[in-house]
Amino acid sequence: MIVLGIETSCDETAVSICKDGEILSNIISSQTVHSEFGGVVPEIASREHERLLNNIAIKAIKDASIKIDDIDGIAVTNGPGLAGSLLTGVSFAKGLALGLRVKIISINHLEAHIMANLLDKSNINFPFLCLLVSGGHTQVWSINKLDDYVLLGETRDDAAGEAFDKGARIMGLGYPGGPEIEECAIDGNPKLINFPRALIKSNKIEFSFSGVKTSLLYFMDSFNESKRYSIADVAASYQQAIIDCLINKIELAIVQTGINIVTIAGGVAKNSVLRNQIKKTFPKNKIIFPDMTYCTDNAAMISFLGEIKFNLGSQSRLDFGIIPNFQLELN
Ligand code: KG4
Ligand code: ZN
Repeated sequence: MIVLGIETSCDETAVSICKDGEILSNIISSQTVHSEFGGVVPEIASREHERLLNNIAIKAIKDASIKIDDIDGIAVTNGPGLAGSLLTGVSFAKGLALGLRVKIISINHLEAHIMANLLDKSNINFPFLCLLVSGGHTQVWSINKLDDYVLLGETRDDAAGEAFDKGARIMGLGYPGGPEIEECAIDGNPKLINFPRALIKSNKIEFSFSGVKTSLLYFMDSFNESKRYSIADVAASYQQAIIDCLINKIELAIVQTGINIVTIAGGVAKNSVLRNQIKKTFPKNKIIFPDMTYCTDNAAMISFLGEIKFNLGSQSRLDFGIIPNFQLELN
């Protein structure tokens, strides 16, 4: 079957076509207008989605070399995310489904991030662990089978992606902060500055990233690029502090559940230092990373999961709404 997927939960306007489990097109427009504000401005994001969505959908259909009438179903993110942004995608999807007289399914954005691990892969079995690390979430999941997900633990405050974004702003780097810090850290020494690793001694799967950010703020107050530290050293040490916390809790999850397969998902999963260190730390585990393009927000993961759900007989009624604080376990 052919499914058109739509993702507009934050600042990526994205449309994808999936046919029989294969991604035929995956168009993403990242809204760069927010960079001058150092973070996403919700009102601007929804206006941009509104402006871009139609053309991106046309391009996704064209790139997939299909005709609009070939579409069998529409999948769309309805949460969690920014209310206005979600509304643009959901309204567009409903209009399209009505016009084409095809079925529609609402998709939880977090579930789609996790299931992106199955995209283009045949070597993954349930159950598996998933470290979901994005701009809004830092969670560890036990994915037992489709629709059976157990939250093992999460952050008490900031998400890891947020720590990267806010940290980058403090260091005077650009937005989004994750790739900026990763790039800046390449020539830095991650061991030079000892930023705090909160909750690393706790035997619970939980994170806290507000302290490391505050610690960076104080550090930067008295920072002068000197012989002692360069900004690359600061970025590398800050990045390492975040990564150490993430890896520490993956280890705890492996021990607590006995699950051998480890996956990661969400924008921070793009970080190569994190990827390399996970592989190095758990040589005996099966480590599966989603393709880089499927880590940050995209619609391929939406069309892919939509097709899986349609094939299992699910679909949504046309009166479904947006759920800005959609929790995955309450599905
Ligand atoms: O999953 P995503 O695209 O959007 C949300 O659902 O939040 O994740 C965006 C987050 C941002 O905080 C961004 O800084 C972070 O992912 N990110 C990274 C990298 N690329 C994106 N963090 C660390 N290293 C990266 N290379
Ligand atoms: Zn996301």
